[in-house]
Amino acid sequence: MEKTQKKGTVKFFSGKEIPLEMHKVRIVQSLKLVPIERRMKAIEEAGFNSFLLGTKDIFLDMLTDSGTNAMSDEQLSKMMVADDAYAGSQSFVRFEKAVLDVFGKKLLLPVHQGRAAENILSQVFVKKGSVVPMNYHFTTTLAHIQLNGGKVVELYTPEAMKIKSTNPFKGNIDINRLEDLIKKEGPENVPFIRMEASTNLIGGQPYSMKNFMEVRRIADKYKIILVLDASLIGENAYFIKKREPEYFDKSIGFILNKMSELSDIVYFSGRKVSSSRGGAICTNNKDLYNKMKDLVPLYEGFLTYGGISIREIEAMAVGLYETLEEDVVGQSPSFINYAANEIDKLGIPVILPGGALGCHIEAQGFLPHVPQKEYPAGSLVAAFYLISGCRGMERGTISSIRDENGNDILADLELMRLAFPRRVFTLSQVEYLIDRLNWLYHNRQLVGGLKFIEEPPVLRFFMGRLAPTSNWPEKLLAKFKADFGDSL
Ligand code: F0G
Repeated sequence: MEKTQKKGTVKFFSGKEIPLEMHKVRIVQSLKLVPIERRMKAIEEAGFNSFLLGTKDIFLDMLTDSGTNAMSDEQLSKMMVADDAYAGSQSFVRFEKAVLDVFGKKLLLPVHQGRAAENILSQVFVKKGSVVPMNYHFTTTLAHIQLNGGKVVELYTPEAMKIKSTNPFKGNIDINRLEDLIKKEGPENVPFIRMEASTNLIGGQPYSMKNFMEVRRIADKYKIILVLDASLIGENAYFIKKREPEYFDKSIGFILNKMSELSDIVYFSGRKVSSSRGGAICTNNKDLYNKMKDLVPLYEGFLTYGGISIREIEAMAVGLYETLEEDVVGQSPSFINYAANEIDKLGIPVILPGGALGCHIEAQGFLPHVPQKEYPAGSLVAAFYLISGCRGMERGTISSIRDENGNDILADLELMRLAFPRRVFTLSQVEYLIDRLNWLYHNRQLVGGLKFIEEPPVLRFFMGRLAPTSNWPEKLLAKFKADFGDSL
């Protein structure tokens, strides 16, 4: 029998640990790196908010992996056989089969993307006075729960906030605090417990299966629904396989299925988990399904397409099967791990261990002279774009909200997230990123803060506009020119 080569088993003669791509690139899109003068104009036009940049001005787009993972030849070819129909599409039947095979859930509600699932879950289960415990919030989850009068309580462990850690499961929920909270609030006020795979906002950090099983025990004890946000479940399963000894010899499929089996409801963003677009909610509980299903035609579309293009439904089905492959779900984490370790060697504060989704630079350590109320993570993202053309995302106080008195609720962590969409970037691009980050670190004293000039009341980080608190961008540009001359 032929031996199949597994990712990570190839030893380099040089002794270096280099992630090896288990795919080849067959469709490419050309990139441009525009001169720094244009990048300065672009970031000014964008109100120093990387969401408002246009891709024509971007070299490496590391804003997110959402809808930007590379698609496979299998996915693209299946899109061509999509069965376009308003109702009863056979593409949906194939999607149902994929969800059953991968998550073991029979009842499926399609929605146009992850936050649409959160809308439905929150409308159905959350009411005024509800308390929803979770390992950590995601921006859209929090917004939907609050919109329905509920409160989110994050029960992460102290380890989660340590920048440099060797803890393999910083995404774990604190089980004792979970039980204390339920006792204090009363189980009747806790509509569900939410666990987020590869906890996005704390650096893509996974939880362990052991922790998840404990959550199930608490959910059973108090008869509370357990909801799994599976948007980054493939990567969490990969980390369980790599880091939790009981699962070293288990397949990704086994781990995925087990996590799903422990959950009453699983929902996901297809933009992430299945390298496509779309999203879904699935369950084996008919009562829960019936409570949610009427909202799908109301907000999304008929029950067999849910606002998603049928082509994308085909791509989602194939993409779900592909999450069973270690080489697929391990690619982004192995590149992130490589980048995070190299960045750490340069003395730059970076979240360790490397997680899923992206490499997370800790902005307060990078820019200790920028006060948190001047948004160090936002400044770092703007400065890094200016000097490299790479677009990251602010995951700090700009992504947070204000309290009832109008004061910023300062984020627990100020992070610049540099996303590594699956199978998109090459190692030389990663080396460029590390090099420019190193230059910026050497010149960090030049970077100053930001202030809002236009601030939307909800999810302000998307469309808000900011301005520098001094002329620091000009000084940074001048230093770049002095050091690099005409180089881009
Ligand atoms: N849950 C998690 C854990 C997510 O990371 C996201 C999206 C959502 C839900 C919402 O899904 O975008 O399809 O509506 N995360 C993207 C990101 C936006 O860039 O991290 P969506």
